[in-house]
Amino acid sequence: MNSTKGPIAVFDSGYGGLTVLQELTKQLPQYDFLYLGDNARTPYGTRSFEVVYKYTLEAVTKLFSMGSHLVILACNTASAKALRSIQQHNLPLIAPDRRVLGVIRPSAEVVSQYTKTNKIGVLGTVGTVQSLSYPLELKKLSYDLEVFQEACPMWVPLVENGEAESSGADYFIKKNIDSLLSQNKDIDTVILGCTHYPLLLDKIKQYLPQDCHILAQGDIVAKSLIDYLKRHPEMDDKCTKNGKVKFYTTENVEKFKQTAGYFLKQDIDVNFLEL
Ligand code: DGL
Repeated sequence: MNSTKGPIAVFDSGYGGLTVLQELTKQLPQYDFLYLGDNARTPYGTRSFEVVYKYTLEAVTKLFSMGSHLVILACNTASAKALRSIQQHNLPLIAPDRRVLGVIRPSAEVVSQYTKTNKIGVLGTVGTVQSLSYPLELKKLSYDLEVFQEACPMWVPLVENGEAESSGADYFIKKNIDSLLSQNKDIDTVILGCTHYPLLLDKIKQYLPQDCHILAQGDIVAKSLIDYLKRHPEMDDKCTKNGKVKFYTTENVEKFKQTAGYFLKQDIDVNFLEL
């Protein structure tokens, strides 16, 4: 872990973090990025705290050893279950000068710009919903907000298995959105609290009321990172800037290349990584 500069690492359990990476490369084109999808162990959303923490820590440690000084957990489940423990307990021991950032706080911070009714919907994995991370963060920011959550356990498997555009996906998307809206009819802002969900956006839009604000995290996280790097020039100095992106997966390289290439609409080079 002795390289002085390195790419910004973006980590997810699978393809979902690509929705964040896409915005990061658009809004910070000069920076180098390293993307890691733990496709061999996806989904994280139905796993226990201990397992998500262990997997995420393994990934973060590996990404540091590959030269990154800054790791973005582009995964709500990992942000909800592992971020705080890694920041408080592991970083001081393994890499006191390196940083790990998550996606939940930046997403919670923008909500009040959009809502008029103060009724917020959160769609996420079982893990994210059960962690109560969103209700807790949102309440910290404004006590007036009322938060309604819906776990969507089938949505990540639909994306990971290439079924995002199939008619079968409609059944599960409609079912979970109807269930969210049945909790309160005045929800006017919905957080896609899982980075896989923007890959289902066209279908999600069909089942939410037209005037409902849908908050996808790519843009939010990119803006928050720009702000972070401005406030932390010492970290900005440690990020290499050649506009290059490298992709790694813990599963089959060809499959990742095909699926990720399809989502990103470009050909990509992918490497295998063992965690
Ligand atoms: N994209 C992740 C998230 O934002 C993944 C969920 C999963 O692996 O279940 O929560």
